[in-house]
Formats: sequence, structure tokens, C-alpha cells
Amino acid sequence: MDVKEAVVARKSIRAFSPKPVPKNVLAEIMETALWAPSWGNTQPWKLTLVGGETLEKIREAYVERFATGELSITTPDYPMPTEFGPIQKARYQGLGRGLFQVLGIAREDIEKRNEYYRDMMRCLGAPHVIYLHLDRGFNPYALMDAGIILQTIALLAVEQDLGTCFLAQSVRYPDIVREHTDIPDDQLLVMGMAIGYPTEDHPLNLFRSERGKPEEFLSYLDVS
Ligand SMILES: Cc1cc2nc3c(=O)[nH]c(=O)nc-3n(C[C@H](O)[C@H](O)[C@H](O)COP(=O)(O)O)c2cc1C
Repeated sequence: MDVKEAVVARKSIRAFSPKPVPKNVLAEIMETALWAPSWGNTQPWKLTLVGGETLEKIREAYVERFATGELSITTPDYPMPTEFGPIQKARYQGLGRGLFQVLGIAREDIEKRNEYYRDMMRCLGAPHVIYLHLDRGFNPYALMDAGIILQTIALLAVEQDLGTCFLAQSVRYPDIVREHTDIPDDQLLVMGMAIGYPTEDHPLNLFRSERGKPEEFLSYLDVS
């Protein structure tokens, strides 16, 4: 598989087999990803890979917290965006519509929608989650580095027939993750990534998100 194939083949996988991935496969992916670039080679990232009983406990606690109906009971360490420009908002809403459509969930079906969100609280059933954390007080540039290493992991995972999903929802309740891991208080939980074997033919995994046209994003000046 060449790089272009991996970039195009990577997409968010939202339904996973519970089968664990061998540690050596995951370690090779994560160790290779450490070659990712970072501002001034600062390598600000810390990555904690969780699976097994520990992840089960995190899932259970997330579902329990979610059931209280209090999505805002704990603030994520790094808040999720709530405001978008009109174009971004339309794309965001389009994604939600597309996902509910493949699942056959009607707009007014609150129970089914909640089930979808509960599944996200369960980290989409993935056997592993990689939590990315940064030193408290990190410089915003470190967020670029965080994104770069996570995308590097996602691409390396494709090569191993593994699926990934960046999962902001997995760091919604950072206190729960801290309680069940050894991630210290001086680290901010920035992002989680679900990783594992995709459930083949699941409608969520057949879904492909759209992209704008190249001319919406790209300009070429003085280039022939
Ligand atoms: C920082 C970040 C956080 C994300 N968090 C979630 C999430 O919590 N739940 C989810 O279903 N998808 C999440 N995604 C996946 C995006 O929705 C997805 O990347 C986007 O729709 C493009 O689709 P694709 O990844 O299939 O190409 C996240 C993506 C990024 C980059």
C-alpha cells in the first residue's frame, strides 16, 4: 500500500469487532508514529493506550454518567468547539444527517439517537483507545503536533487493516479516564482515538463523508 492509497482509504470507523489487537502490532504503529514532526522537535505528546478491563470500566462509567442526562456535568479538559462559521456549520450538520441516514434513524427518534450517543460513550465498541495528553499549560502549537501524530497513527493503522476514529467524545469526562488510568493531573486529555478491527459491512463503516471541491480550499499562485 502506498501513502496515497492509505490517505484515501482512511476514514472514520464507527463500529468495531471486540477482538483485541496484539500489543506488538499496536506498539509498532505507535512507535513508528513517533517519527511525526513537531514544533522545534519538542515532541510534546504523551499517548496512553488502553484496552481490556480498564477500558470496560471506563465505558461503564461513561454510559452511567451519560445516563444522568448531564452532558455538561464534567467539562472536557480541552473544550469541544460549539461555534462554527456558516459553511463549517453546514458541513457539521451534513455529517450528522448522513450518519443518522445510514442508520435509518429519523430526526425525531430521540431514543435511537441516544443509543447512538451511548455507543460513542462506549468508544464505539473498540477494543482499544489511545488517549493523547499534553502537559497542562501547553502552547497551542502542541495541538498541531497532536493532530499530526494521531493522523500518522491512523494512516499506519490502515496498512495493518485496522480502523480508527478520532473520538472527542472519549475525552468528554476526563475525570473518569484519570480515575482508571495513571494519567496524572498535570496532563490535559486532549483527544482519544478508537482503534481496532472494523466490523465489516456495518452501515456506519460503509458511510463515506463528503469533501468540498478542491477550489474551495486550494489556491495556486505563480505555479505552472
Ligand atoms: C479532532 C477530531 C475529533 C473527532 N471526534 C469525533 C467524535 O467524537 N465522534 C465521531 O463520531 N467522530 C469524530 N471525529 C471524526 C470526524 O467526524 C471525521 O473525521 C469527519 O467526519 C471526516 O470523516 P472521515 O474521518 O471518515 O474522513 C473526530 C475527528 C477529529 C479530527
